[in-house]
Amino acid sequence: MYFIPKELPLKGTKVVVTAGPTRERIDPVRFLTNFSSGKMGYAMAEAAASLGAETILISGPVSLVPPANVTLVSVESAKEMLDAVLLHFETASMVIKTAAVADYKPKEVHSQKMKKQAGDSALVLERTTDILLELGKRKKNQLLIGFAAETNDVIHYAKSKLEKKNADYIIANDVTEEGSGFGTDTNAVTLVGKNIERQFPNQSKKELAMQLMETIIQLEKDDSK
Ligand code: CTP
Ligand code: CA
Repeated sequence: MYFIPKELPLKGTKVVVTAGPTRERIDPVRFLTNFSSGKMGYAMAEAAASLGAETILISGPVSLVPPANVTLVSVESAKEMLDAVLLHFETASMVIKTAAVADYKPKEVHSQKMKKQAGDSALVLERTTDILLELGKRKKNQLLIGFAAETNDVIHYAKSKLEKKNADYIIANDVTEEGSGFGTDTNAVTLVGKNIERQFPNQSKKELAMQLMETIIQLEKDDSK
């Protein structure tokens, strides 16, 4: 019997994947969040691990079973996600920011449950740190991959995020398309890089994740020639 070794192009590399939503606490019983299910991020982590990478999956609260062969780091808020990513950033070869990080958090977190009051109306919010933007400022040799869920002008926004955040690729999808985006098991995306714009048709998030990883690995190989 012959043993055919599986090609493991990411062997010896460390890949950090963030997934899911973040939760920003208002008080002990309430929080702000979004509709991210974590499925795309978990699929990206599964693909990275199956291609041989040491894979760190930094995940917000989701109800998914983590893939085999990944190290799961569970976080809640954008701040916790930032801290967890920074811990691994220097030694990472690739960071894939699939997470739907909350853009705003309550300015004040109440230690006791807030009570309704006559005349109350607004919750005061402030911006969270943009993790990808921070990584873009600090990056040395790491490959930085972001995701962008948009409802309109998808490619235009993807290109501007690519530049603004100093990312190498942005994987963009139109969440208004049927079978695409939050919560679904399928997705259709466009991979946007400095010199590339490639569409991937609607398919399972697991298959799509594998195709995206393989495409990016190939593009980087061609680039280094
Ligand atoms: N991102 C991040 N930290 C944030 C917000 C976003 O790291 N606080 C990352 C996401 O993980 C994603 C990329 O930035 O990889 C794009 O996220 P997106 O929400 O599409 O972009 P924003 O810059 O937040 O712009 P907007 O929501 O206004 O479209
Ligand atoms: Ca955002």
